[in-house]
Amino acid sequence: MCGIVAVIGSREAAPLLLEGLRQLEYRGYDSAGVATVDAFEDGPGGLLTCQRAKGKLANLCELVDREGSLGQLGIGHTRWATHGKPEIHNAHPHRDECGSVAVVQNGIIENHRFLREQLELKGIPFASETDTEVIPHLIGEELKVLQSNGDLPSGSMLLDAVRKVALKLKGAYALAVIWAETPDALVVTRWQAPLLIGLGEGEFLCASDTPALAGFTRTILPMEDGEIALLTPLGIELYNKDGVRQQRNPSLLTGSNHVVNKRHFRHFMLKEIHEQPETAQLWVSRHLPLGLPVEAPVALPFEDSFYEGIERIEILACGTSRHAAMVGAYLLEQFSGIPTAVFYASEFRYAAPPLAANTLTIGVTQSGETADTLAALAMEAERRRAHGDPAFASRQLGVTNRPESSLGRQVDHILDIGSGIEIGVAATKTFLGQLLAFYALALKFASLRKSRSILEITTLTNELRDIPNQLRRLIQKHDQLSENLATRFSDTQDVIFLGRGINYPIALEGALKLKEISYIHAEGYPAGEMKHGPIALLERRVPVIAIAMPGRVFEKVLSNAQEAKARDAKLIGVAPEGPEAEVFDVLMPLPEVSEWTSPLLSVIPMQLLSYHIAFQRGLDIDQPRNLAKSVTVE
Ligand code: F6R
Repeated sequence: MCGIVAVIGSREAAPLLLEGLRQLEYRGYDSAGVATVDAFEDGPGGLLTCQRAKGKLANLCELVDREGSLGQLGIGHTRWATHGKPEIHNAHPHRDECGSVAVVQNGIIENHRFLREQLELKGIPFASETDTEVIPHLIGEELKVLQSNGDLPSGSMLLDAVRKVALKLKGAYALAVIWAETPDALVVTRWQAPLLIGLGEGEFLCASDTPALAGFTRTILPMEDGEIALLTPLGIELYNKDGVRQQRNPSLLTGSNHVVNKRHFRHFMLKEIHEQPETAQLWVSRHLPLGLPVEAPVALPFEDSFYEGIERIEILACGTSRHAAMVGAYLLEQFSGIPTAVFYASEFRYAAPPLAANTLTIGVTQSGETADTLAALAMEAERRRAHGDPAFASRQLGVTNRPESSLGRQVDHILDIGSGIEIGVAATKTFLGQLLAFYALALKFASLRKSRSILEITTLTNELRDIPNQLRRLIQKHDQLSENLATRFSDTQDVIFLGRGINYPIALEGALKLKEISYIHAEGYPAGEMKHGPIALLERRVPVIAIAMPGRVFEKVLSNAQEAKARDAKLIGVAPEGPEAEVFDVLMPLPEVSEWTSPLLSVIPMQLLSYHIAFQRGLDIDQPRNLAKSVTVE
C-alpha cells in the first residue's frame, strides 16, 4: 500500500519523481504528492516546495506542470488511505511545523496516537489525521536539539535525527526524508516495508518497488529491515539497525518483470488475461521439460532433501492467492496424498493451530509484500524456533511472482511463478501462475511419495503440457462471448457463483473478481451448500454461474444447478458442450479436460466476464476503488 519514491542527483527531481510514481500507482491512487529542495545559489540550504493533489496521479502532474517544481532532491508518494480520508491535507509528503522537513511514508505507525499526544502537549499543531505526520514533527524536534549544540546542518545531522526518531516508531514503515537545510542529503530507512535503492548515473533513486527504478537504472540495492541510508550526490552511507556501516554489492535487475507497458490493450487487466497462455508456456518449459524420467517429470529448483519427511502442509495466503492455495490444497491432498490446510494469513496470525510435526509452511503472495502473509510466516517460523524439537523445525516455502520481494528475503525457499509483472489490481495471470506452481508441487510430491501410478502422473503431465494451447483457444473464444454476455448483466446487483471440489475455489475467485472491479455483490458457494441457506437469495434477478466440469462431482453440480433454476434464477453454465449442458440458460463452453486440470480453464470465463461487465459499467478496471496491488498494511 502506498508507493514512495525519492531521488538525489544532478537532474531536476520532479520529472523523475512523477515517472517513478506513475510506475507505483498500482500501490494506491487516493492522492499523490511530491516535495523538492532547490538549493540556494548564494548560500547554504534551499527552498523546500511541497505539492499535493487528491485522486489520481494525473491531478498531481497537472499541478506540477502548472506551478513548476525545482530542485535536484525530492521525494514523492502515491497514497492508499489508511489513517484519514483521501483529502489533500492527508496527502503526503507531510512536513514539520516550520515546513523545512518533509517525509513520505509507506506503512503504518502503530503508536502514532501516543506520539501525537506528546507532540501536541508541546504545542505542535497537526495539519492532518495521518499516522505519518508525527514523523516530520519528531524529526524537526530532534534537529532543533542537534542544532542547539552549535553544529551546522549536514546530511549526518539529518541521518542522526531520523535514526533517533525511527527508534521511537512502532509498526511497519518505509520512509524517505528531506530537509531544506541540506539540499545534498536524502535519508531513507525501512522496517517491515519494502524499500530499494537504485544506483543511476550521477543520481540515486529510492522506491518501494522495482518498476519505479527500472526506467533509470538496473543496479539496485534492496534495503534490509532496520537499515538506514544517507544518500548524497557523492555516494551512499548505509548502516544496519545497530549503526554499523554496511558494505554490500548491489544486484542487477534482470528480465522484463520490471517494465510496465499496456501494449495495444485497453487495460492492463485485459492484457494480463491475454498473457496467460504465455505464462503457462513458460511454466511448462521451465518445469515440465521433455526428457525427464516419466516417474519424475517435474523440474523444481530444490534439492530432494527439501521434500524429505514432510507429512503435512500448511498454506498461508490472502485474497486471490488464498483461492489458488485452496486449489493447491486439493491437489496436494487428493492427488499427492499429503494432509494440507489453507489459512487466511490474517486469521492465522492471531489463531494459529497447535504446531504439527514435519510440516512445510507455504506462503503464497504474488507481490511478496502482503503484510499479513509475511507476518504470519514470521510468527510461524518463530513459534517453531522456540519449540526446539527438530521434528517441529520451521520449513518455509514462498510462492511468489516477485522473488526479490520481502518474502524472498524472509523464507528458506522460493518458487518463482514467473508470470511477468502484473499491474492490473485484480490478479489474473499471477493467479494462473500460482495454480501452476501447485501443479508442479503436487506432481513432485506424488512422484516422490509414489501416491499415484506412473500412468496417472504421465497423464496429468501431458495434459498440463497442452494447457497453453487450450488457454490460447479459450481466451480467443471467450473474450467475445463474455463481451456479449456482459451487456445482459451489467445492471445486475447480485450474482451467485457455484462450484464444487477442485472448482469451488474458482467459484470464490469468480465472485471476488466481479466484486473487485464491477462493484457488484457476488458470492461463491460450494454448490452442495446452497440448500442450507443461500438458496433463499435466489429469484429472477439473481444470476447463478455454475462451474460444472466432468469428474466426480459433475452430476452433483448439475443437480444443484437444477435446484437454482427451479427458483427462477438465470442459470449460466461454465461447462463442456453436450446434452447435460441443456439445463443452462446460457453456456460458456469449456473443452472437456480432466477434473484435475479444469480450474486452469474454468477461471478464464470468470476473469473475462468480470472484465467486460466492469467495462460496460464504465469503471476504472485497473485501479478499482479502495484497492491496491500490494497490501503492505495489516
Ligand atoms: C484480488 C487480489 C487480492 C490479492 C491479495 C493478496 O484480485 O489481487 O485479493 O490476491 O491482496 O495479494 P498477494 O498475492 O500480493 O499477497
